[in-house]
Amino acid sequence: MKPRREGDEEEEELWANSPKKDSLLRLIKIVTGVVVFMAGTVLGLSWGVRFHRHISQTDIFFPTELYTKDCGKVNLKLKNFIEPCHLMHGMTDKELFWRASLVSKIKEHPFNRVPKVAFMFMTEGPLPFFPLWDKFFKGHQGLFTVYVHTYPGYTLKVPETSFFYDRQIPSEKTKWGSISLVDARKRLLANALLDLSNERFVLLSESCIPVFNFPTVYNYLIDSAYSFVQSYDENPIQGQGYYDSHMAPEINHSQWRKGTPWFEVQRSLAVNIVADNKYYSIFRKYCKTTCHSDDSYIPTYLNMLDGILNANRTVIWADWSMRGSHPATYGHEDITEGIIQSIRNNGTICRYNSKPSSVCFLFAMKFSPDALEPLLNLTSTVMKF
Ligand SMILES: *[C@@H]1O[C@H](CO)[C@@H](O)[C@H](O)[C@H]1NC(C)=O
Ligand SMILES: *[C@@H]1O[C@H](CO)[C@@H](O)[C@H](O)[C@H]1NC(C)=O
Ligand SMILES: *[C@@H]1O[C@H](CO)[C@@H](O)[C@H](O)[C@H]1NC(C)=O
Ligand SMILES: *[C@@H]1O[C@H](CO)[C@@H](O)[C@H](O)[C@H]1NC(C)=O
Repeated sequence: MKPRREGDEEEEELWANSPKKDSLLRLIKIVTGVVVFMAGTVLGLSWGVRFHRHISQTDIFFPTELYTKDCGKVNLKLKNFIEPCHLMHGMTDKELFWRASLVSKIKEHPFNRVPKVAFMFMTEGPLPFFPLWDKFFKGHQGLFTVYVHTYPGYTLKVPETSFFYDRQIPSEKTKWGSISLVDARKRLLANALLDLSNERFVLLSESCIPVFNFPTVYNYLIDSAYSFVQSYDENPIQGQGYYDSHMAPEINHSQWRKGTPWFEVQRSLAVNIVADNKYYSIFRKYCKTTCHSDDSYIPTYLNMLDGILNANRTVIWADWSMRGSHPATYGHEDITEGIIQSIRNNGTICRYNSKPSSVCFLFAMKFSPDALEPLLNLTSTVMKF
């Protein structure tokens, strides 16, 4: 304890009702007032600066980074608004989702709109199959766009000639089984929506490959009346639902759906997914641990609102015969003409635009990086690209 100085009490007593105390108090008040005022001014100014920078940098309608950076001389023209020439921007998810979900009420476009397929890749790091994809994309420029969500700070190592070059979007950390995987999907969709010509949106992983050539894939998707989001009532692999009754009454158990997290959606559904906050917040709050929101949120949400536009099946083939929580992985030794042929057509008949079709899968997973070389060997004979 601090030893009390003799006379302290005396001093206090003396000050109790002396004019000296009054003036000192007044002085303290003034000083405090000035300090508070200055702190307020500084805070206010810095907030104002931040607010100001925020608005002018992001612009929301016309983020400078998206539309002017590295775009050469042309900048704030309609052409650049239709198709941002740069993918990096400073928008937060909130700003991005708001911006990306804006839809014109006029259905006809004031420009010649050639619909494109947005290929959205989600990876922690490298994309081992980029040479295969590059071969797939080659010669079809103008009909597709590529977006890559990686681990934040990771720089994709691809040559400048690759279609993956400079196609990374602002990314955030993701964790298996957590809502951050839904956030990453919404972020990919939102960034791809900024290109007004993107009509179909495919989500793929780093272990996915195409099994048909580009024209087949493009026509299949562009001409489809339905989106391809796998959706079923319960998970036959896990054998139990992960529905949490707290989600009622907004989402009842009978409305709960599951499906593979790798999907394909048309533009109107992509907008709705990005725009949704109601169901998203319920999932964020109640879909935890054993409930994987990345394979239930989108199927459930579409089932509630846009089910009629969903084919309820996936176009991304995966081998679930191992009955684990992950599909089987195919490596170098497994790659044969036969396996790719059987993915292209294994005798299964599915429905395409309400008619029976033998082409059910356009892409396949999972393949390990060492499968690249034999796969490149099969492109011209089997995949026809
Ligand atoms: C869920 O079920 C309850 C009780 O049957 C009903 O009142 C509610 O409207 C349902 N919710 C939805 C979103 O259908
Ligand atoms: C998919 O399921 C929804 C219900 O969520 C249904 O309305 C729709 O007709 C189904 N789609 C097809 C193509 O059967
Ligand atoms: C074809 O592939 C699908 C999807 O993997 C599978 O469900 C089905 O059993 C396969 N059919 C045959 C005949 O192998
Ligand atoms: C590629 O194909 C050729 C000819 O069919 C074959 O001789 C060669 O072993 C194949 N290479 C790989 C890596 O599969």
